[in-house]
Amino acid sequence: MPNENIMCKYLGPLCEKLDKCEHYQKFARYRDKVLSLNNDSLEKTIAVALSLCFVCAILVSLAAVALKPLQIENKAMDMKKNILDVAGLLEEGTDIHTAFAQQIEAKLVDVATGDYVDGDVEAYDQRKAAKDPELSVVLSKGQDIASIKKRAKIAKVYLVKQDDVIKSIILPVHGYGLWSTMYGFLALDADGQTVQSINFYDQAETPGLGGEVVNPNWRALWAGKKVYDESGQVALGLVKGVVDSTKPGAEYKVDGLAGATLTSVGVTNLVKYWMSQEGFAAYLDKVRTKG
Ligand SMILES: Cc1cc2nc3c(=O)[nH]c(=O)nc-3n(C[C@H](O)[C@H](O)[C@H](O)COP(=O)(O)O)c2cc1C
Repeated sequence: MPNENIMCKYLGPLCEKLDKCEHYQKFARYRDKVLSLNNDSLEKTIAVALSLCFVCAILVSLAAVALKPLQIENKAMDMKKNILDVAGLLEEGTDIHTAFAQQIEAKLVDVATGDYVDGDVEAYDQRKAAKDPELSVVLSKGQDIASIKKRAKIAKVYLVKQDDVIKSIILPVHGYGLWSTMYGFLALDADGQTVQSINFYDQAETPGLGGEVVNPNWRALWAGKKVYDESGQVALGLVKGVVDSTKPGAEYKVDGLAGATLTSVGVTNLVKYWMSQEGFAAYLDKVRTKG
């Protein structure tokens, strides 16, 4: 590497190291050979194109690495926003981090027993755990009504309290629709029976059809609906078309999504699964009795 090169002024000792590096010397010889080629030659065109690809790949990789912490931060923020939203605590101009820290309490629950368990709530990732054979249970065909194949043994639930009294129980739910696994939250009253709200923060159903699961007007139909019938069975679900509020059982029914029967069935199934004994029924029983 020629020492009078302007780069040396800035690279300093690194320049001397490069000077002694045999790989760099090889590269420099190759570079000089390419630069001496005719601009119209095929070799030079290919070499320049490949060099450009190489430089761009490095830039993209550097950007991806540099932006990773920001992406993680944005994902966490978005999750908090969704939880505040389903809890009815999201207003225009709400400071997400502050509102979440002040009003939401995250807890880990052993789904099978319904007991709270110790652990690093912040760090726990239920979706990751569901993919880990040690941390998940495989569902049999009969159990897997939500078509999720496996579920994490431990779930991350959220509580909204006022003067130590539970105002909302926010449960993570997911299940398969037509095209995608729909991930969301279901917020219930402290009775573990009355729906406050539902939202889906990650789904890939068709916009305007199954994607209407995120439509605020449709979501509003869930408020006040009941989960369990008199015999304790999960009765909450979607109907095809519009619910006739004069008919018995209307309190368990929500309007189906127009032109999206398969997504609607998916939503019904995921509610059935997560509210059943396989899901959060044991936990809801404990909240009802112990608070
Ligand atoms: C391009 C395309 C996208 C569709 N997206 C959905 C969807 O997201 N959810 C769904 O349930 N059905 C979707 N459907 C319709 C289904 O294929 C199926 O016809 C429908 O679920 C039956 O419901 P219906 O009886 O309400 O029409 C889509 C159909 C087409 C052609």
